[in-house]
Amino acid sequence: MGKLYGLIGHPIGHSMSPIMHNREFMELGLSHHYHAFELSPEQLEDGVEAMKMLDIQGFNVTIPHKVAIMPLLDEVEQEALDIGAVNTVYKRDGKYVGTNTDGRGYLMSLLSMTGEESLKEKNVLVIGAGGAARAVSVSISHSGVRSLTIANRTLEKAEELSNVCARYSETYAITLKEAEESLGNYDIVINTTSIGMSPHLDRIPLSVDRLKPGTVLSDLIYNPLETQWMKLGKKQGAVTDNGISMFVEQGALAFEIWTGASPDRQRMRKTVLKELGG
Ligand code: ATR
Repeated sequence: MGKLYGLIGHPIGHSMSPIMHNREFMELGLSHHYHAFELSPEQLEDGVEAMKMLDIQGFNVTIPHKVAIMPLLDEVEQEALDIGAVNTVYKRDGKYVGTNTDGRGYLMSLLSMTGEESLKEKNVLVIGAGGAARAVSVSISHSGVRSLTIANRTLEKAEELSNVCARYSETYAITLKEAEESLGNYDIVINTTSIGMSPHLDRIPLSVDRLKPGTVLSDLIYNPLETQWMKLGKKQGAVTDNGISMFVEQGALAFEIWTGASPDRQRMRKTVLKELGG
């Protein structure tokens, strides 16, 4: 019999997750359904109880509930605890367990883009220290990296995040100015801030003047599909990627955790791109 999966968030009207998951359920011949549940912060506690009562087998969690859901679950995995947020909930032995596929999803998409098996030889710079930066930085440090540097406008936030990551990998916290000056030292540079997102198309998180050719420049933004920062990076000889890969991979990992089946990532990507293109 088909099982019910879903997403909770506020607002979720524009989420691409339902179409992405439902298409894969259909293509793989699974009679499951993925439904978006709009839940305000005030409704979260009752909403999660309702999910349990309805025996929903798994769900994604998005803004603004990624942190607030944690105490409402039976268990939270260590990586999600380090990130400080849950984006995926699954059922194990009747218990609702929180995990986070954002960072791991990002890591997988980065590895498949670069063709590398790991980041163990790479010096990585993460720009930003908010929720997205936490997911990306924690997963990168968990998996192992030569060095991880976190640059942020508010240095204290970068320091706080680097303290978590330093438990797993060599990690530094620096200012945005220091990051611009040392840009030639990194193999991979990742923008996790919203700077450059539509409608502020001309903004960039930091100058790429000192970028060395061949650097991987990765922007978590996917609206627009190519930011001004990616365009400038390309001119400097960088290899660029946008946030679609991370979105698809975080969803694919959740799909695998829930169903044990492997979705077709390329098809998921096409579904998302079609949706974005209207
Ligand atoms: P998200 O959850 O999407 O990562 P967030 O938690 O609000 O969003 O984090 C936003 C990040 O973008 C932060 O690192 C923020 O820097 P501060 O910690 O100094 O606030 C960064 N950011 C946002 N707007 C910025 C701007 N105009 N210039 C520099 N950094 C900016």
